[in-house]
Amino acid sequence: MIKLAPSILSADFANLEQDVRKVEAAGCEYLHIDVMDGHFVPNITIGPLIVDSLKKKGIGMVFDVHLMIENPDSYVEDFAKAGADIIVVHQEACRHLHRTIQNIKSHGIKAGIALNPATPVDTIKHVIGDIDMVLIMSVNPGFGGQSFIDSVLPKISQIREMASNMSLKLDIQVDGGIKPSNVRKVVEAGANVIVAGSAIFNSEDISATVAEFRKNSQF
Ligand code: DX5
Ligand code: ZN
Repeated sequence: MIKLAPSILSADFANLEQDVRKVEAAGCEYLHIDVMDGHFVPNITIGPLIVDSLKKKGIGMVFDVHLMIENPDSYVEDFAKAGADIIVVHQEACRHLHRTIQNIKSHGIKAGIALNPATPVDTIKHVIGDIDMVLIMSVNPGFGGQSFIDSVLPKISQIREMASNMSLKLDIQVDGGIKPSNVRKVVEAGANVIVAGSAIFNSEDISATVAEFRKNSQF
């Protein structure tokens, strides 16, 4: 069974709770929160205050915080206190990745690592035993609504194989350019957590789109 993680990057920020309630009502399991700093990626988005406000509304979803920022260690505590259930950092932004993972876990929450399209999966081989989720980026991070990069598909299979060889129960999340029309190949490659921003929030009927995602990812 796959888990759906709508990215609020494509929600209406002036009506954020209302939009989040729609994906919650549609049964989506994760709320994907894209944090950008204007340095690691060329865009600026959400800080801990927004996470805290949403958490206080009693949203019944896993708060999945994707940090696309430099020096993530400096902000782990703030996002953990604000209500993150899992914090995902980029391999490319961490000089001491093992230490950063331990920092996240010291707050009693889950830890994940994201890989940009050009970053090989081997770079996290020695730390995947310490994490709960790998995020394979299928676009270059920074913006919603970009096209899926097909050359990342083998990376999903490689991580799945690596995890099963090591008998790890690892979630594999894929993020960027996923729609009902291409979700199947992502799931077939081995992903079980699907991020979708524009495909969900820009759709006329969110429940119907969520149902389409689920139908197309069963095989
Ligand atoms: C991109 C973000 C994604 C983005 C996905 O940098 O990490 O989570 O919101 O948006 P779509 O699904 O529109 O590609
Ligand atoms: Zn993301």
